[in-house]
Formats: sequence, structure tokens, C-alpha cells
Amino acid sequence: MTKDELLARLWADYVQMTPQAERIHALLGSRGERVVNDHVALRGLGIADLGIAALARPFEAVGYVEQPARYRFDDKKLVARYWRHPEPGSPKVFISELCVGELSARAQALLGELVAQVPADFSRRRDLPWAGRPWRVTRAIYDELLAESEYAAWLAAFGFRVNHFTVSVDALATFSGLAELNKFLVGSGFQLNTSGGAIKGTPADKLEQSSTRADAIAVDLDGERAQIPSCYYEFAKRYDGFEGFVPASADKIFESTDAKPT
Ligand code: NI
Repeated sequence: MTKDELLARLWADYVQMTPQAERIHALLGSRGERVVNDHVALRGLGIADLGIAALARPFEAVGYVEQPARYRFDDKKLVARYWRHPEPGSPKVFISELCVGELSARAQALLGELVAQVPADFSRRRDLPWAGRPWRVTRAIYDELLAESEYAAWLAAFGFRVNHFTVSVDALATFSGLAELNKFLVGSGFQLNTSGGAIKGTPADKLEQSSTRADAIAVDLDGERAQIPSCYYEFAKRYDGFEGFVPASADKIFESTDAKPT
């Protein structure tokens, strides 16, 4: 598999989960924009080789290189790293994982029940970044995890796949910045995540980001159909050649998949 094939498979899985992303992508295309991705983000579990290292392997196999930055999100009990590809114009790959050992004993036990269902060698699959959910999960377990960690509940419901793609606002030709793009999106009927303000970060942070509110899609929870927030589309404007991430901003962006409206 080449890097472009891998990214195409990720996009195909993502737009199935996130129909609004395809609509926004098409809308930008109809203005004459050629959408460039700033980064894609994936979520993992920091146990049983289902975390950052496992999700990174398929990207490293197509030439992605790990970057030295280490991020920590204390409130959400997450750590994250990112990868870059030497080919110019390639999206960065941002991978986070839940520090499962820091959760309550009950949440650890529930996640343990899910992980016990994972087939042997699952984490070695070349398609792990879009492999989906390798376990059955009930509504009761989903709800219980949601009460403690939105991230844990999201992983329980959706498994291993892209959480968001991110449009590079710098590469857009017909918008002066993020505020103008946000106005266009709202005017086109899309809802933005306004937790912490529509725009997270400042030019001083060298990164400004906004995102839509996640689509809700039908998910099977052990025979019960539930409507659950899936994934969102993100927009990033960078300054001074900064290529990293800003944890304080990402912390609020993570809330785009919160089941509770903000
Ligand atoms: Ni992001």
C-alpha cells in the first residue's frame, strides 16, 4: 500500500462516518478550492498494544516519521504524538491514546471486557487505522463509560478509525482566514463546536483551529440502534511555519464529539 492509498482508505471510512465532511469538501470544491489536509487524527487505547504505537505502524510503513513533540491532556487523561511525511503537502498524522491506568477501577474493568474480545494479532493489521470496532458493546457499558470519559465511550462505540480530517486554511485561496471560513460554514447550515469559542488558539499560539459539531450516526449497541456523535471536520490556520499542536486548543476541540450539547 502507498501513502496515498492509505490516506484514500482513511478518507473513505471517515466520510461514511461523517457525511458532513464530504458535503463541506464538495462545497469548497464548488468554489474552486483544492482542499489540502493539514492533519488526520486517530484515537487509541493505552493498553494491550491498541494505542499510539500500534496505530502508527501502518503510517511508518509508508514513510511517516515520528516527531519529537509529546503532548499530554491532563483533564481527559490522554497523551499524543504526531508523524510527518517527507513528501511536501502530506497531512500530518496526530495519534492520541487514553491513559487507561488512570481511569477508575470500574472503567478499567469495562474497557478490559472489550479488549478481551479483540482477536489475536488485530493490532498488527495493516488496516488498523480504519479497522473499526473489534468488540460487541452494550448501551449500558457505553453509557457508563460516557459518564467518565467521552473518549473511552467514543472508542467503545466506533473502535479504531479516523476521528477527524483537518482542512488546511492556509491552502485555501478564497478565504482570508478562519473567521471568514467559519462564517461561510455557518451560513451554509453547518454547526460549529463553540466550546471555548469557535476559534481555538491565537496567532501567538501559531495555530488557530475550529471544527464542526460531530455528525450523529446510527450505531449498533448489541442489537440496539443508537444515534451517537461520530466524527467532526476540523480547520487549521498556522502561523510562522509552526507544524506542531497546541494542547489547550485540542482539549476543547476534543469536545466536538461530546454527546452532551455545549
Ligand atoms: Ni486536529
